[in-house]
Amino acid sequence: MQRKNLTIGVFGFGCVGQGLYDVLSRTQGLKVHIKKIGIKDATKTRNLPAHYFTTNRDEILFDPEIDVVVELINDEHAAFEIVSTALRNGKAVVSASKKMIANNLNTLYALQQQYQVPLLYEGACCASIPIIRNLEEYYDNDLLNSVEGIFNGSTNYILTKIFNENKSFIQALSEAQELGFAETDPTMDIEGFDPKFKLCILLLHAFGLFIQPEHIFNFGINRINDFDINYAKEKHSSIKLLAKCRKVDNAVYAYVLPHFVNGNTQLTNIHNEYNGVIVESAFADKQFFVGKGAGSTPTGSAVLSDISALSYDYRYEYRKTSQLLAKQAQNDLKFADTLALDNNLHLKVYVRCKNQAIVPLTDFIEIIEKYESTEQQYIIGIINLATIIASEWVKNEDINLIVL
Ligand SMILES: NC(=O)c1ccc[n+]([C@@H]2O[C@H](COP(=O)([O-])OP(=O)(O)OC[C@H]3O[C@@H](n4cnc5c(N)ncnc54)[C@H](OP(=O)(O)O)[C@@H]3O)[C@@H](O)[C@H]2O)c1
Repeated sequence: MQRKNLTIGVFGFGCVGQGLYDVLSRTQGLKVHIKKIGIKDATKTRNLPAHYFTTNRDEILFDPEIDVVVELINDEHAAFEIVSTALRNGKAVVSASKKMIANNLNTLYALQQQYQVPLLYEGACCASIPIIRNLEEYYDNDLLNSVEGIFNGSTNYILTKIFNENKSFIQALSEAQELGFAETDPTMDIEGFDPKFKLCILLLHAFGLFIQPEHIFNFGINRINDFDINYAKEKHSSIKLLAKCRKVDNAVYAYVLPHFVNGNTQLTNIHNEYNGVIVESAFADKQFFVGKGAGSTPTGSAVLSDISALSYDYRYEYRKTSQLLAKQAQNDLKFADTLALDNNLHLKVYVRCKNQAIVPLTDFIEIIEKYESTEQQYIIGIINLATIIASEWVKNEDINLIVL
């Protein structure tokens, strides 16, 4: 197939927008021309001629010469307006805004079907790792069991600095922000929301499910203290923030939680802003993807790969969603036969607290170990994910929760 010439309009010229410009200007063979760049603040100094920039989004969205709109901004609501208007105008779209995409998957899917235009968003999930296209194209069957990994570059950077270089949490976070790995609002990263948005997107491409982020439990690394770090080190482990989803019969389990890791998973060796994704399927067993999960040019290169795919008219087929809808129609939409999110999952956890009285022992299915000192206490036991979600104690800032 002949590669098409593309004229693009880009929204955002921050970390990712500039990364895209960099990789595009150093890539040969692609016939892509940036016509305009939409920005917010007209007074900022830019390193490109002024004629490129506009603060009037209609100059891009309604320009008939622009074939592809590339949305790389840090404002969820404006991003949704831009992406949905572009799709309605029949323009193909590339976006890296995981929060906006995860919160609007249903609508964005429907717009693509209605207007028959593609929306690609590889840069939104683990930046440089081509996980969405792999789930779409390679794992194009219902034999996929699970997708799990480190989906957030900035928390992995922070944890690496804490465990490998003995840096403090605050010091490591500010370094991650300076390097452009952390989101504008760091709570999105450190409280585990950012990997959850990516998990929602991957749940659609892995299993065909539309799941709203608020239905998935996330617990971040913001409550990790020296006691937890020392506990991990004593056990020759470190801590990684993992996002996981697994299908068992008609149930899909999904959550984001910190885990103690040691040699038992390849994810132990994923450091700094790198991400790692393990995909497990029935017959191929496990495959492991590694790559930079944040940063200017790694994310820019994923965006460029989407633009390149559009030059060959590539689009996501959402085959698993179609298969699921067909199955549901066959089964007369009986709920029992429908694949659905399920929180009835047993987890082995470490719960650290100042006072064990806050955590009812009856919440545990089995207590494995209890430790008490004047400073800190912990319980190790088996507990149901649904019990954690329903509990009051998990909201207490003095409690930390890590999966063993
Ligand atoms: N940074 C990463 O490593 C990374 C990785 C994967 C995905 N992402 C996602 O990519 C997106 C961009 O991230 P970033 O790190 O590049 O953000 P950033 O460095 O903060 O840059 C944001 C850009 O968006 C522009 N902008 C904000 N609101 C706008 C509006 N209403 N109209 C037009 N332009 C607007 C800003 O304009 P001004 O320049 O005028 O302020 C700025 O150029 C986010 O959704 C983020 O989640 C980031």
